Amino acid sequence: MSGKYEIRFATSAPLEKTLAVMLQVADQGAPAGLAEADPQGVSARAVEISGFKAKSMGTLELIAPGGSAADRLLLLGLGKPEALTAHDWLRAGGAAAAQFKSSSKVVVFLDAPGLQVSARQAADFALGVMLRGYTFDAYKTKKKDDDEKLPKKVAVTIVTGSHAEAAKLLDDANAVAGGVLLARDLVNLPPNVLGPVEFAEKARQLEDLGVEVEILTEKDMDELKMNAILGVAQGSARPPRIAVMQWKGGKAKDAPIAFVGKGVVFDSGGISIKPGAGMEEMKGDMGGAAAVTGLMHALAARKAKVNAIGIIGLVENMPDGNAQRPGDIVTSMSGQTIEIINTDAEGRLVLADALWYCNDRFKPRFMINLATLTGAILVALGNQHAGLFSNDDELAARLSAAGEATGEKLWRMPLGKEYDKMIDSKFADMKNSAGRHAGAITAAQFLKRYVGDTPWAHLDVAGTAMNSPSSEISQSWASGYGVRLLDRLVRDHYET
Ligand code: BES
Ligand code: MN
Ligand code: ZN
Repeated sequence: MSGKYEIRFATSAPLEKTLAVMLQVADQGAPAGLAEADPQGVSARAVEISGFKAKSMGTLELIAPGGSAADRLLLLGLGKPEALTAHDWLRAGGAAAAQFKSSSKVVVFLDAPGLQVSARQAADFALGVMLRGYTFDAYKTKKKDDDEKLPKKVAVTIVTGSHAEAAKLLDDANAVAGGVLLARDLVNLPPNVLGPVEFAEKARQLEDLGVEVEILTEKDMDELKMNAILGVAQGSARPPRIAVMQWKGGKAKDAPIAFVGKGVVFDSGGISIKPGAGMEEMKGDMGGAAAVTGLMHALAARKAKVNAIGIIGLVENMPDGNAQRPGDIVTSMSGQTIEIINTDAEGRLVLADALWYCNDRFKPRFMINLATLTGAILVALGNQHAGLFSNDDELAARLSAAGEATGEKLWRMPLGKEYDKMIDSKFADMKNSAGRHAGAITAAQFLKRYVGDTPWAHLDVAGTAMNSPSSEISQSWASGYGVRLLDRLVRDHYET
């Protein structure tokens, strides 16, 4: 987890035995710290020979530069200032952190000629550093020799003109990093260690931050007639849980906003069992629930002025003599009946009851659910965008904008009557699978039948929550996708 970096903002810092990082934009003069870090100008020759042009995220490293107090110099390119996006500041922080290596003291000169660095951008840079620092190696008993030599603590001083304002934003950055790293840990953890009960306990730990947490057991779900989620759980030896998290940072009279997550701790497919190849990745089928839990952590840790609900449906989908069968018909909490066509279309069953319960109990301003719901969204959008489905154009537009700002991108997909018809069943009110065609859309249509008239958005994160491509800010299999996106949405539109 975090805690490895001790980050502070300052107007200057001593350079003895440090890594000095200097940000530089293309086609401009030397970076701010250069005169200090390289008094004899030895880097000029290295720049010349290497052809360093300060392209976006390009780096040039000098070791033991003559005449410098610093052990190493790192020039980090930002490209052309007019092309810089908000997300690039996180990427730059991550790209810098990737080069910290054995240094236990780092000084970053953030300001560059041709660039006015705001406090928010400086804080985003710090967040990028924190996110890049994440590793998941709790189960590696043989540490590599190189890792042994890495310092346990790294003091990072970020020198910038906006240091005073940036320092005020540092707590927020820490809160968000804590949420993202929590989500990554939850998704990376193996399924034998993280079952529904154990996941619920992780949610419970948010009480330390002032979140109210209730855990619904099988008995509670039975009394609430949540037969859709119970049907999924019945093949597993491990009982299901629903965690209800409430953060009350807003005014008492304000209706809450709500986030609902699919938390299938392992998805074998059930009786409609999945092929063996890659099945181990289905430990990540709780990526939606992990994002909701990470978001609640972030909101509480930064004391967001909003009332927010997080509800996660936690189950394991397994084949067994007691497992649900194709052909079964279950009655969901809403009273609507569902014919089970494919036991591997289990996520929508979990969400059907969780969404209905959320809407019924809390009457929220909106509901956003996150789910690793379909392989079809991977076919459509790959790992680059999550699928966005919504019954509300304003909410969809706000989400898309937050996606652009955070780099956690969304692509809106259609909903419509014709797709809705595809999930009508011969024997019940609806069926849980309509086959391959438009698979991500028919799954969304299914969820839509459980949200009433409440503004709602469904994010299909099957391609973005896990198996994530490496980037400047993440080398982890689990990205923690959704935490920064939704924190941004809340920050921009829903805090009082
Ligand atoms: N958890 C899977 C979806 C998934 C696939 C997530 C790949 C992450 C990576 C989901 O429960 C599932 O099995 N969906 C089926 C639905 C089908 C049976 C209608 C699918 O997408 O094939
Ligand atoms: Mn499945
Ligand atoms: Zn699943």
